[in-house]
Amino acid sequence: MDRLTLPRPDDWHLHLRDGAMLEGIAGESARHFSRAIIMPNLVPPVVTGAQARAYRERIMAVTGGDFIPLMTLYLTETTDPAEVRAAYEDGIITAVKLYPAGATTNSASGVRDLSKVRGVLEVMAEAGIPLLTHGEVTDPDVDIFDREAAFIERVLDPMRRTTPGLRVVMEHITTSDAVAYVETAPTDLGATITTHHLVINRNNILVGGIKPHYYCLPVAKRETHRKALLRAAISGDPRFFLGTDSAPHPDSDKESACGCAGCFTATNTLSILAQVFEDAGALDRLEGFISRHGPAFYGLPVNTGTLTLQKTDTPVTYPARISTGAGPVTVFDPGFPLYWRVM
Ligand code: NCD
Ligand code: ZN
Repeated sequence: MDRLTLPRPDDWHLHLRDGAMLEGIAGESARHFSRAIIMPNLVPPVVTGAQARAYRERIMAVTGGDFIPLMTLYLTETTDPAEVRAAYEDGIITAVKLYPAGATTNSASGVRDLSKVRGVLEVMAEAGIPLLTHGEVTDPDVDIFDREAAFIERVLDPMRRTTPGLRVVMEHITTSDAVAYVETAPTDLGATITTHHLVINRNNILVGGIKPHYYCLPVAKRETHRKALLRAAISGDPRFFLGTDSAPHPDSDKESACGCAGCFTATNTLSILAQVFEDAGALDRLEGFISRHGPAFYGLPVNTGTLTLQKTDTPVTYPARISTGAGPVTVFDPGFPLYWRVM
């Protein structure tokens, strides 16, 4: 098989930022993807329907064309359940994002005490609004490599039990624990997997010198976990789908004494995924992972447009960095040549 034509893919977890960064990088996603779930962790965060609508307009002013940003609200302890319901019913938002306070980039306004958002979660369960979770606890006593597993046990599982009917997406899963948890759950639980977590493990970040462009949150774990993610991605199980978590930061903020978390994969994500799936002997499963499982979870139609990937004899070339008005942004380097080109 050296040519693959698929329904146009979607990205179910994407950071597009705002202002000069948005202008500089949005095209990298809009070029290949039909729709994307847009993360609300701007400064200040997107917390109201009016803010989500205005942000959607700013994105569409940059991307033009057919790209559809699916907006999310950033859940805070003061989020009004009625506001969430109205924004959803008006078609402004597709989902709500839960950041445990302090878990990641721009998450200071996130949730500390889940009992404070009980009313919102109940409305979401009733209205069928998905909750997207950044699944890491923030307790200082929990090791950073254990924070996802602890989140499942301490937060996610109790929350799902006390809120029957709540549809949840575990975003950017990084552990075999998360894969196992999703596999045993009913279809009201889905999970996104990023491109970079299918490629790197924690050695790539730390062996032979620290590699800031491989640092993201949740941080990549050991190789057994990467393998579990790959197995899930190529399994054909519709509960697993692509969310790139492409998260641009200017290089000056990454290559720093306190480097920001986030890998920028929008530019070469589809070439990487085709390569990874081919190398795993699972090219036939790529279509489900990037084009079909996500829409099925969200109850949206599969895109009618198509995208073609062509196998090439010489490695695909792509820019090492994208220059933006906010500074250069390094493109994720998978560390191996890519032989699949997006036509
Ligand atoms: C994201 C960002 O930079 O906004 N960073 C990251 O490492 N993934 C936030 C997030 O999704 O955790
Ligand atoms: Zn993210």
